[in-house]
Amino acid sequence: MELAGKHLVLGLTGGIACYKIAELTRLLVKAGATVQIVMTEAATQFITPVTMQALSGRPVYVSQWDARMPNNMAHIDLSREADAIVVAPASTDFIAKLAHGMCDDLLSTLCVARDCPLLVVPAMNRQMWQNPATQRNVAQVRDDGIEVLGPDSGSQACGEVGDGRMLEPSATFEAICAFFQPKILRGQRVLITAGPTFEPLDPVRGITNRSSGKMGFALARAAAQAGADVHLVAGPVSLATPWGVYREDVQTAQQMYDAVMEATADADIFIAVAAVADWRVDHASAHKIKKAPGQPLPSFDFVENPDILASVAKLPNPPFCVGFAAESADLDVHGEEKRKRKNVPLLIGNLGPLTFGRDDNEVVLFEASGATPLPRADKQLLARTLIGEIAKRAPRAGTLFS
Ligand code: CTP
Repeated sequence: MELAGKHLVLGLTGGIACYKIAELTRLLVKAGATVQIVMTEAATQFITPVTMQALSGRPVYVSQWDARMPNNMAHIDLSREADAIVVAPASTDFIAKLAHGMCDDLLSTLCVARDCPLLVVPAMNRQMWQNPATQRNVAQVRDDGIEVLGPDSGSQACGEVGDGRMLEPSATFEAICAFFQPKILRGQRVLITAGPTFEPLDPVRGITNRSSGKMGFALARAAAQAGADVHLVAGPVSLATPWGVYREDVQTAQQMYDAVMEATADADIFIAVAAVADWRVDHASAHKIKKAPGQPLPSFDFVENPDILASVAKLPNPPFCVGFAAESADLDVHGEEKRKRKNVPLLIGNLGPLTFGRDDNEVVLFEASGATPLPRADKQLLARTLIGEIAKRAPRAGTLFS
């Protein structure tokens, strides 16, 4: 589980966005985190401690003088084990208090007395966010090393539209997960292809394959969490864009090739995960092919698609290139042969038809020094391991470790 073993203090301050914290708490607990809820008095006007207690599975604290704390040290004890305090939603007033080190209730005192990172997730009306005093306070808390997540832009509870909305629970969750990841790819630009391609036969039919895109998307997410600037070129898949990733959707191998060639000069690392169709139909029909009694069956001429990975690897100054290979047999032979044929330093092989669409995967790393199998793992966790392996080998990323 993504946040197993993590202890979080989740502080709620007064604001209508408190309703989002019910869902956020559920996501954090599901990911294995221990969540200790602390609320300001104002927050209890928007969502009840009973709800938050049921979702977090722990007693909720509001008052500094709570009699359940025998030593009256709630302001210290509650965050003693914490890996981070997250204040969500963080009101205008609470951010102002943080900027000035004020502590007049349990949550603000916990923040001042903490010995762990503090993340705040602002939520307020557009005018309150734009107010110069708020902007000064936000700049101050950032300067003080407090992580500010968001805010988002969009329609607000007051009926206005603009900056100040709290990030959605899923985005807040993603930002918290990312916060805990070591930034081993900070400053690196990573280009990734993912998913299948779709090669049309006519306007309604085409040839594609069973790639789900899950592995490529998981790698994009892990790279972004590791601090990289990620550009994901995706074939037709129904997956949500990972948080913080720039996504470009394409259909055909030729479109994927064009998108990659356009972006590759800006990339330090290129990871080709897409299952690119090897052939396309020459002159796909502009109209739907109709069947008529007595007519011969349709037949098609195929032409070869460009090999995207091999083309990038052939460039005069290529990024660090990583290939993927899904094989149905003899992975050891085909993996190393394919790595050499594509002229890439690292190729990640897996037994394809067994893993398409699944949430886990088992891979072998092929490189000049030999083959290294990795244990079967959930695709998200495996992606994190693979990003670690790639970061160790990529020359520009590698300089971070020297
Ligand atoms: N690849 C690519 N462009 C292509 C074909 C493959 O970029 N036109 C990349 C894939 O994204 C992957 C690697 O090359 O990283 C290996 O893909 P695979 O389909 O296994 O290789 P092929 O060269 O098509 O070999 P095979 O004959 O096994 O299909």
